[in-house]
Amino acid sequence: MTHPALSEGRTAVVTGAAMGIGLASCKRFAAMGMRVAMADIDGDELTGAAAEVAALAPGGADAVMAVPTDVAKRDDIEALRNAVFDRFGSVGVLMNNAAARIAGGTSDDLADWHHTMAVNFWGVVYGVRAFLPALRDQGTPAVIVNTGSKQGITNPPGNVIYNVTKSALKTYTEQLQHELRNTRDNPVTAHLLVPGWTTTGKRAHKPGAWLPDQVVDRMLAALDRGDFYIICPDNEVTSEMDAKRIRWGAGDITENRPPLSRWHPDYKEAFDKAP
Ligand SMILES: NC(=O)c1ccc[n+]([C@@H]2O[C@H](COP(=O)([O-])OP(=O)(O)OC[C@H]3O[C@@H](n4cnc5c(N)ncnc54)[C@H](O)[C@@H]3O)[C@@H](O)[C@H]2O)c1
Repeated sequence: MTHPALSEGRTAVVTGAAMGIGLASCKRFAAMGMRVAMADIDGDELTGAAAEVAALAPGGADAVMAVPTDVAKRDDIEALRNAVFDRFGSVGVLMNNAAARIAGGTSDDLADWHHTMAVNFWGVVYGVRAFLPALRDQGTPAVIVNTGSKQGITNPPGNVIYNVTKSALKTYTEQLQHELRNTRDNPVTAHLLVPGWTTTGKRAHKPGAWLPDQVVDRMLAALDRGDFYIICPDNEVTSEMDAKRIRWGAGDITENRPPLSRWHPDYKEAFDKAP
């Protein structure tokens, strides 16, 4: 890894760090000699996860901190930032990764809408607003990685709430990176990590899915190149298939097709034949 934000002795802050892609990232950062601040709403899982990460860190437990945090609460995120800067002094990586998943349709319970938006969208906005001024003032390279989803790009039917949160997050992160890129002497970049199907949580691994470590490999290589969009394939969906699906979704607008046409029998043949 040659990106200076991800070098030995720098600090990574990861939300949703108690399991899945967040935990795998923390393990990798620690093994690379970075200091790691792990934030998660699930305090019990977080304690065990922090011990696993510390076991891989050359600096041991001194290089790892676990901060129970609800990303939907702005005060929690600000307390996280204060704790991290108090202990480690500067930050190289902010990975806004925590998410709530929910299935359902447009008329689902408003409480579910508000909660999922609060975690998946506002949690990221709070994270960026809490950390960005300090990241800029440090004057050293830093990266912000927001974990999105293909569902926020191609918008498959069902899971409307989740899709909306991830599509809002995509738009926000694109705007953020554009602003950062156009700010003189700014050492911070933003990136959108888009995992494919990945076995996480307590789920049994299926052959079609990637493992979290594969997502981390892809993310690190992409950050090294300076990529903004970090779109991960999996063992069922290739990068070429992703590209075709993304093009087709954009084509619904430019070709005046109905939305989500890819999932309608009227367009199945045309989609199958499309380049
Ligand atoms: N696993 C996949 O197939 C997949 C695919 C696309 C995108 N993603 C995205 O990747 C990211 C990580 O997902 P994962 O599959 O590793 O998830 P996971 O369910 O394994 O872990 C999510 C973590 O977030 C924590 N969390 C939930 N609500 C929180 C809150 N309010 N505050 C703080 N922490 C909270 C949970 O306790 C959990 O530890 C998410 O943003 C998810 O949307 C995952």
